[in-house]
Amino acid sequence: MNSSADLEQLSPPPPPHHHHHHRQHRTKLVALAQKTFNNGPWAYIILLIFTFVLGYLSHSQPLLSQGTSDMIEHNSFPSQCSDPVPSNRVRQTIIDRVFNGTSPWESFPPAHVSPFLLKEWNKGWGSNNPVGTFLGASATHMAGLTRRLGLESQIICIDDFRGWPGYSDEEKSSKMVNGDTMLLYQFMQNVVNANATESIVFLPYSTSTALVNGLCEWGVYGDLVEIDAAHDFHSAWIDINNAYKVLKKPGGVMFGHDYAWVGVRKAVHSFARLNGFRVKLDGEHWVLY
Ligand SMILES: C[S@@+](CC[C@H](N)C(=O)[O-])C[C@H]1O[C@@H](n2cnc3c(N)ncnc32)[C@H](O)[C@@H]1O
Ligand SMILES: *[C@@H]1O[C@H](CO)[C@@H](O)[C@H](O)[C@H]1NC(C)=O
Ligand SMILES: *[C@@H]1O[C@H](CO)[C@@H](O)[C@H](O)[C@H]1NC(C)=O
Repeated sequence: MNSSADLEQLSPPPPPHHHHHHRQHRTKLVALAQKTFNNGPWAYIILLIFTFVLGYLSHSQPLLSQGTSDMIEHNSFPSQCSDPVPSNRVRQTIIDRVFNGTSPWESFPPAHVSPFLLKEWNKGWGSNNPVGTFLGASATHMAGLTRRLGLESQIICIDDFRGWPGYSDEEKSSKMVNGDTMLLYQFMQNVVNANATESIVFLPYSTSTALVNGLCEWGVYGDLVEIDAAHDFHSAWIDINNAYKVLKKPGGVMFGHDYAWVGVRKAVHSFARLNGFRVKLDGEHWVLY
């Protein structure tokens, strides 16, 4: 892919007024999103889900048939997120809310887990941002990128860190106890290995819980959101809609992985159509702009 040519297509000439700044910001984010696709075998799942309200609901609803209004219910993600916390408070907000004020890396690893951790394990799926974080390949890749670009950033990873049934059979090396595959601890170890503990934090919950009851409620918004959790239509649809609530507006960029999945594709295009976005593709990735 030729990033600079693609970026030019994405960046119309700057208008005379204050939108210029947002546009530049957006262009940088799109570039960053695209860079995350183009690096080697790393794969991360980072889920950020953000909020929005469909603008057409209020005036069109009375005219609709029952069937259509049922459909609109499915498309409605109405909660209003809290006012944004300042970006330099984002990390501490999450540490306070999720880890009782103490960084999760401080006492890592717990003694009972240590023997099971692989000191080197960097497998992933070739995606680089966090809605669906898995072992942190996307997240550590992203951390390295932003470091090299001189950007100060916090990367917020959402994953229930349980993988899926049968996951530990595939990965012979991981232990599973009562369905717990130790994904969380291996993710943490991988972040430690990447020297990225200061720029990465995580919410070990389901995507909906983390996005709606977590980030949205706390007023934590993201400049760049990657969606790569479950790939069936319903999951992708909910993740994209919830993530959009916590995407910074204007200026934020949302993208995701596994466009080849029919469920993901449908969710992305429905969302784009209903919200006035276009979809740009880059290999297995989709970007809304
Ligand atoms: C395809 S993997 C993500 C790969 C990651 N982007 C990478 O490159 O390494 C999907 C991840 O999403 C997580 N996941 C799936 N459904 C989820 C949900 N509803 N809530 C939270 N995490 C979920 C799984 O635990 C798994 O780690
Ligand atoms: C949370 O931290 C406070 C002190 O900072 C401590 O008193 C309290 O016991 C902690 N709560 C839990 C559940 O660990
Ligand atoms: C992390 O830091 C250590 C010690 O400074 C260094 O040896 C190592 O190469 C670094 N690892 C990465 C992935 O940057």
